[in-house]
Formats: sequence, C-alpha cells, structure tokens
Amino acid sequence: MSDQASSDRPRAKSLKPLRTLWPFIITYKQVLLLAVGSLLVASLAMLAMPVALRYLIDNGFIAHDLGTVNRYFAWFLAAALIFSLFAALRYYLVTWLGERVVADIRNAVYAKVIRMDPVFFEVTRTGEVLSRLTTDTTLVQSISGSGISIALRSSLALVGGLIMLILTSPRLAGYTLVGIPVVILPVIIVGRYIRKLSRQSQDRVADTSGLAGETLNAMQTVQSFTLEDLQTRRYAEAVKSSFLTAVRRIRMNAILIVVAFVLVFCALTLILWMGSRAVMAGEMSGGQLGQFLMYAYFVGSSATMLSSLWGEIQRAAGAMERLSELLQAEPSIKAPADPESLRARAEGQICFSKVEFRYPSRPDSLALAEFSLEIKPGETVAIVGPSGAGKSTSFQLLLRFYDLSGGKILVDDTDISHLNPRELRRQIGLVPQETVLFGESAMENIRYGRPEASDEEVKQAAVMAAADDFIRILPEGYDTFLGERGTRLSGGQRQRIAIARAILKDPPILLLDEATSSLDAESERLVQAALEVLMKNRTTLVIAHRLATVKKVDRIVVMNHGRIEAVGTHDELTRGNDLYARLAELQFGDI
Ligand SMILES: Nc1ncnc2c1ncn2[C@@H]1O[C@H](COP(=O)(O)OP(=O)(O)OP(=O)(O)O)[C@@H](O)[C@H]1O
Ligand SMILES: [Mg+2]
Repeated sequence: MSDQASSDRPRAKSLKPLRTLWPFIITYKQVLLLAVGSLLVASLAMLAMPVALRYLIDNGFIAHDLGTVNRYFAWFLAAALIFSLFAALRYYLVTWLGERVVADIRNAVYAKVIRMDPVFFEVTRTGEVLSRLTTDTTLVQSISGSGISIALRSSLALVGGLIMLILTSPRLAGYTLVGIPVVILPVIIVGRYIRKLSRQSQDRVADTSGLAGETLNAMQTVQSFTLEDLQTRRYAEAVKSSFLTAVRRIRMNAILIVVAFVLVFCALTLILWMGSRAVMAGEMSGGQLGQFLMYAYFVGSSATMLSSLWGEIQRAAGAMERLSELLQAEPSIKAPADPESLRARAEGQICFSKVEFRYPSRPDSLALAEFSLEIKPGETVAIVGPSGAGKSTSFQLLLRFYDLSGGKILVDDTDISHLNPRELRRQIGLVPQETVLFGESAMENIRYGRPEASDEEVKQAAVMAAADDFIRILPEGYDTFLGERGTRLSGGQRQRIAIARAILKDPPILLLDEATSSLDAESERLVQAALEVLMKNRTTLVIAHRLATVKKVDRIVVMNHGRIEAVGTHDELTRGNDLYARLAELQFGDI
C-alpha cells in the first residue's frame, strides 16, 4: 500500500533538487570522508582483481610455474578480501548517513511546518504536509542510503571498468560498447512495462479487498436480502480480474527473463569468440582475454544497476523538491527585526483601533471594518452577534494569526505587530469553542497550559476548574489516557479540561469562545462556576452564547457584518438594540 503511495508521487524533471541534500550531508563530514575513502578502496580492489587474474593465467598457467600461480592467487584473494571488507564498511557508513540525513530532514520539516501561520495551511492541505513528512522522506531515504551507495559504487565500477576495458583491448572494447546498449535497452523498456503492470495488479487486489470490506461490513443487509450468491459472483469476478492482470505481469516477466538471458549470453559468446580469435592471432594473451571478460562483466552489471536506479533517483529528486519547498517556506507572521517587549506579566489592556481585515483567501470581502474597541485591564467584555459576524476573527487577530489590512491592535499600548508573536501569545489564554485534547493522559493534557508545571499545580488547576472530581473517578485517575481527540470524555468534561489548562497558564488576557452545543443543567452549572474562577483578575473577552454569561459581564459588544453595532449592558441593549433583542430571544431564550 505504502509502496503504491510512493510510486504515485510525481518525479522531478531534473536532478537539481537533490543538491538541497548537500547541507544535510556535509554536517557529517567525517562520516562522509570515511565513506568516500572506503568506496575508493573497495573500487580499486575490485578493479585490481581482473589484473591479478590476467597475470595468474599468463605468467602462471601458461608458463606452468606453480610459484607464480600461488603468488597471483594470493594477490587475487587479497584483493577480494580488501574489496569485501571495504564494501561492507562503505555500505554501513553510507546507509548510516542516509538514515541520519533523513531523520534530520524530518525534524527540520516538522519544526518548520509547526511554526507556519494559518494562511500557509489554507494553501497547503494537512494531508499533503503529512505525506511529505512520511512518503517523501521515505523516498529520499531509499536513495540517500542504499541508493547512493549503489549508484556511487556502480558509477565508479562503470567508469573504471570502461577505462580498463579500453586499456586491455581497444578494438574489443569498441565492440563491447556497441553491444552493451543493445543488451540493456530492451531490458529497461520491458522492465518499465512490467512495473506498470504490477501497479495495475496491485490495484486489482485492492479492488477485491474493497469489495469484501464493503459486504462484510454490511453482513446483515446482504443476508436479509439473500444476496449471498450475487455477492459471491461479484467477488469471484473481481478475483478473476486480479488473477488475469497478474498473469499478464508474469508473462511479461517470463519474456524478460528469456530476452535478458539470450542477449547476455549471445553478447558474451560473441565477445568470447572474437577474443579467442584475437588470442589465436597473437593480438592478445589468454590472460588479457580473461581480464577483459571480467571488466566487461563489471561494466555490464553496473550499467544495469544504474539504469534500474534511475527511476528511483528521479522520484527522490521530486520528493526532495517538495521537501525543500517546505524547508524554505517562511511564515508571513514573524517577529520584527527589533521587537519591542511587554512586561513579564502584561497589564491586560487591549485596544482595537479602526481595525480593518480581509482574509487573504477572500480579498474582496471585509471580515472586520472600522472595528474600534478599548478594554481596560481586568474588564470582562462579551461579544455577541449572528454567525459570520466576525467574532472569532477578532480573536484570531488579537492572537496575531493574521496581519491587519488596516488600523492596529495595542496590548498595554504596544502595537502587537512590533512584538514577537510568541511573546504576545504567552500573555493570552484561549479556551476555544471545541476543546482539542491530545492523545495523552489527563495530567499531560492539562499540563499543556504550562509545560513546566508540577503534578501538584496541575491537580490544583483541575480542582479550580471543577474537573478534579470526574478525573479522579476515571479508571486510572490522572493517568487515564484520554484517547485520540479526547473522544472518551463528554463535552462538558472536555471544556473543563480546557478551562483547567487556562487556569494553569494563568495569563493576564483570556479569550473565551463559548461552546454553542448546549450542556445539561448540571454540567452547565459546573462549567459556569469554573469559568467564573478563570475570569477573575484578568482581562477577559468572551464570545457569548449563554444568558448567564452576558448578564455577568461589564459590557456587551454587538457585532454584525464585521462591524460593531452597539455597546452596552444586557438591560440597555435589550431595550435599545433590535439585533440584540432578537439574538437574546433566539440564542439565550430570554424574552
Ligand atoms: N480562514 C478564513 N478564510 C476566509 N474567510 C474566513 C475565514 N474564517 C472566517 N472567514 C469569514 O469571515 C467571516 C467572519 O467569520 P468568523 O469566524 O469571525 O464569524 P463568527 O462571528 O465567529 O461566527 P460563528 O458565530 O459562526 O462562529 C465569515 O464571513 C467567514 O466566512
Ligand atoms: Mg466563531
């Protein structure tokens, strides 16, 4: 399955993107030097073996000199041993380097992506980022490890072998050079066709399991309509088609084997025949012919290796291109060159001044317009308005997930665009509409509010958020795994975890997006009590959906179409503002 995913990834048009691998590789200069050293030694030893063979034949066999035979056998064996040893060393070092480099790339990409702003994620789908992190890095891994190792070895063997071929016998080398493509080209072409067939074959197998999955999940429907015979026939047809595709692949493979063997042995026989004639004519010695054949074998097998690697290298280049795209991405929201700073704990004064904002993906419509609002330290302000009014947008701007199209936002009289976004966000606690829990224990989930907090502090925060009671009776108390996305908790429990997190963070500014989903009376009371604790002693902006909340706050801001329509208390607005009166009636059930 993942094999298929990786062969579906587009290839690069050129190999240039592979250059971006270099900075990652050169970090491990010593390993690289050792690897290249072993590569050279192994290649030299390999290229020396045929020479030993030649002298063995010419000076040993032909001269019937046992001493010489022994000496050259020893040489041959020594070369073989050195080759084996350094080939293994080269393999180890290069593969190590490949794994290390890919691990570094994965980390670098993740570290980059996790710092990107929302605009980036609107353009790049999360699934695409994930497949770059997994499939593309795996593609790079396959070549940067064993791939490069094989490629380097084969290239050296190819070049070295060619040179030695020409030195041994220029005329015979000429014929061989014509012969090699004649042997390899058909093999490459048929090989490519076979890959396509094996992809189709995988698809057909996937079809059959898809069909089986569909019916097995609907057993009762199948049986109640007595569709067993029909479904059995459908499945049998899918299996048959998968079998037929496999047979086509096998047939092509068989043809490839015949063609390859016939071509290789014909070429070999031809060279041998021509070589033997040259030996008889006294143009070359028997040893030279042996040497020549061995080099020809090196050249031929290296060329085959390289050609089969070619597609993989292209795919890796494509993968590297996509990875470096991520590596070079720069968040559009970042710290200015010379950032101002807030005091360690901000006062919590907030001022929206004539803020104007368009979402980058919707440049024609104003999400916020002439939005001016001043909030004193410690004040609690509610924002209400119909769906799409721009309430959540105002939060995102205060957190500086986007830059403004006009106007400015001040926190403690400092323009937030002059701050490092991380410093700004440290001062702000967000309790979102939908609580996001991570696949960890209750303890760790709350600790996200302040990662350095002690277990005691976490429990204290949970008590204040009215979460302690329900956490204690979970199967393993605070160590209970909350499941992916916290699916093992109720809505109200999730909210209290989020509130505990914010209490633990204890920020001077709190942004609260009340959940729209209604809770039962008891959870509602618990959540409200927890929120009251949380809002104390800090500036709070709350997007309100509940009557209890709006009745408690200092001021209510009524928003509509990105603008502020009215500001006042609940009683004032119920009497003086039609939109608010209508909202109050619909949303809060207050008549
Ligand atoms: N990422 C985005 N890209 C483009 N437009 C957006 C984006 N997010 C929100 N909008 C648009 O901006 C406007 C204000 O959205 P916002 O989320 O602030 O509404 P809201 O008042 O929070 O509504 P609700 O009560 O439904 O949460 C809407 O018209 C919405 O379609
Ligand atoms: Mg919203």
